[in-house]
Amino acid sequence: MAHHGHGHEHAHHPDWSALAAEIEAEGLTLAPYVLQALDVIGERVAAPRTILDVGAGPGVFTAVLAARFPSARVIAVDGADPLLERARARGVEQGTPVDVLRADLPGGFVELPAADLIWTAQTMHHLGDQHAAVAALAGRLEPGGVLAVAEGGLPSRFLPRDIGLGRPGLADRLDALQAVGFGEMRAALDGTVDVPEDWPAILRAAGLRDVRAYTFLVDLPAPLDEDARRGVAHMLGRYLRMADRLDPDDAAVLRRLIDPEDPMSVQRRPDAFVLAARTVYIGTAP
Ligand SMILES: C[S@@+](CC[C@H](N)C(=O)[O-])C[C@H]1O[C@@H](n2cnc3c(N)ncnc32)[C@H](O)[C@@H]1O
Repeated sequence: MAHHGHGHEHAHHPDWSALAAEIEAEGLTLAPYVLQALDVIGERVAAPRTILDVGAGPGVFTAVLAARFPSARVIAVDGADPLLERARARGVEQGTPVDVLRADLPGGFVELPAADLIWTAQTMHHLGDQHAAVAALAGRLEPGGVLAVAEGGLPSRFLPRDIGLGRPGLADRLDALQAVGFGEMRAALDGTVDVPEDWPAILRAAGLRDVRAYTFLVDLPAPLDEDARRGVAHMLGRYLRMADRLDPDDAAVLRRLIDPEDPMSVQRRPDAFVLAARTVYIGTAP
C-alpha cells in the first residue's frame, strides 16, 4: 500500500508468521472492502473456476473469495507455512475449504497454476520489482481472466483529532512515520526497482485491458464492536515497532491506547471508529 497501513519493522524483513494475529485482526476489520471489490470483479468474471490469493497470509480474504465463489477452486499462495495453515483451517471452519500453495516470490511465480481470477492484497509492495511481479501474475491468467491488486488508498483513521491524551494530531504524525518506514522497507528489499507507483500503468504494461482503480470505503462508526476494537488495537499497535522513532509522549499515548486495561484504550473508549479507504486496481487479460 502506498505509504500507510503497515508499521514496517526496522529490520525490514518482517517475520510474517509472527504477525498472524495482527494480519487476521486487520483483515477481519477491513474485509468489507473486499466484498465491495468482489462485486466489481464479479461483473468481469462471473464464474471463475480457479482463483489464486497471492500473499494470502492467514487467509481472511481467501475465505471471503471462497464464500463468494463457492464452486471455484481457491488457492491461498504465500511464503509462510504457518500462515497457510491458518488459511486452510479458516476455509474448513467456514465450510468452504481452500487449497494452499507455498511459494517464495518472485521465484515461485512460475509454480502458480493458471487462474481465472488472481487477487493479491498488500503483497506486491513487498517485492523488489513490482512491474515484473504484476507481469508474472498477468502471465498466469487464462484468457479473459481478471487480476485485482489491492494497494494504496488513504491512511486509515480510528480516533478524533483530539483524544484527550497527549498532543492532538497523533494520526498525522503516525502517517509521517509510516511513510518513512515504507520507503526504507522498499529500499531494503531484494532487487528493488525504484519506479513511480503508478499501478494502472503497471497493470497496462503487463498487457491487461480495461484497467481501472476502484476505491472502497470501510466506514464503521463508533461505538465499535469487539472485533473491530481488536483490529484497531492491532493497526495502532504496529506503530510501536517503530516506537524509538516516535516522540516519547506519542509512544506513551500509543501504549495507553492499546492497553485493554486502560479506560482510554481503543478497546474501551466510546469514540473509536474505523474509516478506511482501500484501492483495488483491476484489469482483464486479453
Ligand atoms: C501484508 S500481508 C497481506 C496479507 C493479506 N493479503 C491481507 O491483505 O491482509 C503480506 C503477505 O505476503 C507474504 N509475502 C511477503 N513477501 C513474500 C514473498 N516474497 N513470497 C511469498 N510471500 C510473501 C507474507 O507472508 C504475508 O502473508
